[in-house]
Amino acid sequence: AHPQRVFSGIQPSGGLTLGNYLGALKRFATAQDAGIQTIYCMVDLHAITVWQDPENLRRATRELAAGFLASGIDPTRSILFNQSQVSAHAELAWVFNCVARMGWLQRMTQFKDKAGKNSQNASVGLFAYPALMAADIMAYHATHVPVGEDQKQHLELTRDIAIKFNNDFGVDFFPIVEPVIEGAATRVMSLRDGTKKMSKSDPSDQSRINLTDNADTISTKIRKARTDAEPLPESLEGLDGRAEARNLVNIYAALADLTPAQVLAQYGGQGFGAFKPALADLAVDKLSPISAEMTRFMQDPAEIDRILGDGADRADAIASPILDQTYDIVGL
Ligand code: ADP
Ligand code: NA
Repeated sequence: AHPQRVFSGIQPSGGLTLGNYLGALKRFATAQDAGIQTIYCMVDLHAITVWQDPENLRRATRELAAGFLASGIDPTRSILFNQSQVSAHAELAWVFNCVARMGWLQRMTQFKDKAGKNSQNASVGLFAYPALMAADIMAYHATHVPVGEDQKQHLELTRDIAIKFNNDFGVDFFPIVEPVIEGAATRVMSLRDGTKKMSKSDPSDQSRINLTDNADTISTKIRKARTDAEPLPESLEGLDGRAEARNLVNIYAALADLTPAQVLAQYGGQGFGAFKPALADLAVDKLSPISAEMTRFMQDPAEIDRILGDGADRADAIASPILDQTYDIVGL
């Protein structure tokens, strides 16, 4: 059996949102604090599956590193690094491109969403993205991957690739990962449309809270968030068919480390006139220190580069031997 090891990554493709924080970063810190070995990565090779301005990409990578650090990732307890600095990711991805089947990748809904109608014009990298993601995880023989709901299908593909590799070569080499998709905020929705995921790529800035938003902006966005006019229900079933209300309750729960049922026990029967200001206060209270820390880290880019360089060395020390063994198994 493989020892428990956590891996996850985030793309440096623009500002971090509350969805990234609650669905990923906050949970990354929890895993680290539980004493499990944790490896976290800025996946810049994934970011370039769509064109990125080179200067912006460099800045976004440092800003993302600052976001990890400000969210409580301690680079002495976790390994924090940049994907392109550890060549095993790209090398193992090639092997996995040769294991994964075209049909498997054609089923990926994220590719369909991101490629849009003109999929013939999408990059080959965008299509092959899930095989690189499998390599990110398998290069460390990671067993657990904390992610948001949107990554579930990609993790199933990671399992399929590991199973097929093990079968094709008659080995028990790659572990079969467990997706860790839990808590109240595995799918934080847009503040403007309860049917859409909160995303850094949504054209409307009002749809998301950015980790770098100041207190006034956070409060305004929550106050203006779309809702119905009913008071909050007393129990969870009362949220059925009320996507926007459910989303705000879930956000409150995740920020306060409560369950949605506990939030409703407190606020059931109250209208949004009371609930939104309480949520805004809570969000400002939890996010302001993170934003301040990010700003502080961003003032010392050399220190960020030092942390990422050190992390890359430690990541490489784990991934290189696994890549060597993979090549050996394959006959390379
Ligand atoms: P994005 O989806 O914002 O472009 P990534 O694809 O790099 O960002 O995702 C980084 C992590 O954040 C993943 O684990 C993803 O599941 C999580 N995540 C992104 N958006 C949300 C959301 N709205 N709710 C919960 N988790 C999210
Ligand atoms: Na995503």
